[in-house]
Amino acid sequence: MSESLITDVNALRVWDSRGRPTVEVEIRLAGGAGGRAIAPAGASTGSGEALDRRDGGTAFGGLDVTHAVDAVNTIIAPALTGTDATKQAAVDGVLIELDGTPDKSRLGGNATVATSMASAHAGAEAAGLPLWRWLEGPARPVLPLPEIQIFGGGAHAGRRVDIQDFMVIAVGAADYTQALEWTAEVYIAAGKLMADAGKLAGVADEGGYWPAFDGNEDALAFLVRAIERAGLTPGEDMAISLDIAASEFYSDGRYRLARDDKERDTDGMIEMLLGWVERYPIVSIEDPLAEDDEAGLIAFTQAVGERVQVVGDDYLVTNARRVNAGVDRGACNAVLIKPNQAGTLTEARAALEASRDAGWGAIVSARSGESEDVTIVHLAVGWDAKQLKVGSFARSERMAKWNEGLRIARALDSRGELPPRSSFPWNGA
Ligand code: PGA
Ligand code: ZN
Repeated sequence: MSESLITDVNALRVWDSRGRPTVEVEIRLAGGAGGRAIAPAGASTGSGEALDRRDGGTAFGGLDVTHAVDAVNTIIAPALTGTDATKQAAVDGVLIELDGTPDKSRLGGNATVATSMASAHAGAEAAGLPLWRWLEGPARPVLPLPEIQIFGGGAHAGRRVDIQDFMVIAVGAADYTQALEWTAEVYIAAGKLMADAGKLAGVADEGGYWPAFDGNEDALAFLVRAIERAGLTPGEDMAISLDIAASEFYSDGRYRLARDDKERDTDGMIEMLLGWVERYPIVSIEDPLAEDDEAGLIAFTQAVGERVQVVGDDYLVTNARRVNAGVDRGACNAVLIKPNQAGTLTEARAALEASRDAGWGAIVSARSGESEDVTIVHLAVGWDAKQLKVGSFARSERMAKWNEGLRIARALDSRGELPPRSSFPWNGA
């Protein structure tokens, strides 16, 4: 259909939630439809991710993106002109071939992911459908179960505590709307508890409270108290989810937990985490061991895989080949899907499909550097990922996404039906 052929691709340097430069791409089609998207940016990145292309030098800490913007305007734009935006695989095929590197280092993963997402929006608009519906999900779409940060640590809070994300999952919520309501109560309760304890010191990069704790485990105890103070039952209504982001404090076979003044080997880390799983209502743990401690990831998954969701982020980097290898080796039982780790929507979706084929869980995820862009919410619904992680329950780059889920629920004439509980790996599926 000539109406959906790409006529214009334009990049603009805009600013993300940390005040750093990032790439926005706008695409226009022959029939007048258009779409726009903004690349997010990570801080605790896996080594196998698509490259986030930055200028270097002195401006903005070396983080400027003028080369990535130029790559869109001068290399991608002429190559994509005339491509049908309703054919995502064709659009992404042009980007992949044009880049020609395994890590998108020629054009920049930030350039390609913004282009790929903008094209999806334009294609959906040309088809007259919201993006989540255009992605051809199941006949009866469901909202994703939210995984929401209450305390932010690690690389997002000056390493004030070692563990990166202390999150809650409303495992007992009747629907998406109630999951957000319960999380709002827990977030408020946690803030009051922090204030009462003289520990309220603002928020970390993703909007979770700054973790002014004496040790990593203190945050877990606080989280349980916050759930109770919100009038909810820990484990039944609201469970705990962690992103250890262990690659961040691993080197030479040792995990250095600065806050606990402790150094652990792989067995020691596994022992510590198993102790937490025993003592706290934890249903999900991401990156429990470092990305290159594969033996540790396998051992940990074997130890808890029936009870706990073990999520690969740095280890799997939204890469279908790595997901398949992880499945073969028995490392992890769920994948984090971050489109900018792959560089195109087609490659991100392939990683999700590989996890689905293996009966794994999947969580579509934002990055610590975000914007008003809400594409990932549409992906979580349209791709039927079943879980969504976008940081905390504060700051508009996060709330824009939770709120978009409410709009999708309304379009479905519901409060947001959630996936059946049996679909999550912590139920031993
Ligand atoms: P990042 O953190 O975006 O800084 O990588 C998010 C995560 O580790 O899941
Ligand atoms: Zn992570």
